[in-house]
Amino acid sequence: MADRKDEAVCVTGGSGFIGSWLVRLLLDRGYTVHATVKDLNDERETKHLESLEGADSRLRLFQIDLVDYDSLFAAINGTVGLFHLASPCTVDRVLDPEKELLDPAIKGTINALKAAKDCGVKRVVVTSSISAIVPCPNWPSDVVKNEDCWTDLDYCKQKGLWYPASKTMAEKAAWEFAKEQGLDVVVVNPGTVMGPVFPPILNASMTMLLRLLEGCTEKYEDFFMGSVHVKDVALAHILVYENKSASGRHLCVEAISHYGDFAAKVSELYPEYNVPRIPKDTQPGLLRSKNGSKKLMDLGLHFASMEEIIKDSFESLRSKGYIS
Ligand SMILES: NC(=O)c1ccc[n+]([C@@H]2O[C@H](COP(=O)([O-])OP(=O)(O)OC[C@H]3O[C@@H](n4cnc5c(N)ncnc54)[C@H](OP(=O)(O)O)[C@@H]3O)[C@@H](O)[C@H]2O)c1
Repeated sequence: MADRKDEAVCVTGGSGFIGSWLVRLLLDRGYTVHATVKDLNDERETKHLESLEGADSRLRLFQIDLVDYDSLFAAINGTVGLFHLASPCTVDRVLDPEKELLDPAIKGTINALKAAKDCGVKRVVVTSSISAIVPCPNWPSDVVKNEDCWTDLDYCKQKGLWYPASKTMAEKAAWEFAKEQGLDVVVVNPGTVMGPVFPPILNASMTMLLRLLEGCTEKYEDFFMGSVHVKDVALAHILVYENKSASGRHLCVEAISHYGDFAAKVSELYPEYNVPRIPKDTQPGLLRSKNGSKKLMDLGLHFASMEEIIKDSFESLRSKGYIS
């Protein structure tokens, strides 16, 4: 284990599905961690973090509101690295996109990066998403999608796809800030993240699997590009943080695949469930690839397979009582 006891880092969204895995792996590696939550008085956000090994001596919790710069400054102050994960995450329709998604994602990213700059942070890892890569209907049909591909904002606005719009605008704002202010920023773009859940509340991507097991026929046409194990996503964040040669965006999926592939695998593994028959090609024009995340593989990441992702996720849903 690398001994990072003298190194303090901040994880915004530390209470969330991915954030709590990242906090756990950072504590395991010896880091001191400042993790942010939305409400320090809500045990559903704090208890699972406080019970992690090393938390008693090396974890500090901070309450933040993404649109409040001062709260972010207080959380980041005293750290040398920032992992900015906090952002509202939903594939469902929202009533007030500006307030519920766009403001916290975009203003939150600018506030976090500005606070990092003001606190003298050396490197920032921003958690973007494949939702800043797709939907992109005009990408050439014979080229596998990669980190050069950006979500088409006009398409999102026409179709009311506010989550991809929020992630795209937030990532663009991060790159702009990094360039203007000379801040060292690197980005991870995870696919649909699944695996063992620590928080008591189920996040959006694990809810997708639960819905599938319950028979939901949604194809997530504009949201899916591949699945990835939550532990691999947390590891990817640490790899790009620690490896100073890492730069730019990092697509983070076990493979580029269609939701239909995923649904078929769930059905094969758990035939006793009511998994609907979904056509195999659910993502129009998406070319499959085993090496979509080549940049992270080159940094040493060995991705868990789709089967392992599904089995670990299923066991977690079962142990938490979501399925019988
Ligand atoms: N899950 C996926 O499949 C996936 C894929 C690609 C990218 N991502 C990105 O990964 C990040 C984490 O997602 P997740 O799946 O772990 O979701 P999650 O469990 O819902 O976590 C989101 C985190 O952001 C915090 N947050 C949200 N709005 C906030 C606000 N206004 N002020 C302060 N904190 C706020 C939440 O705090 P509370 O817990 O206190 O509410 C939570 O800790 C997000 O940036 C998401 O866009 C997720």
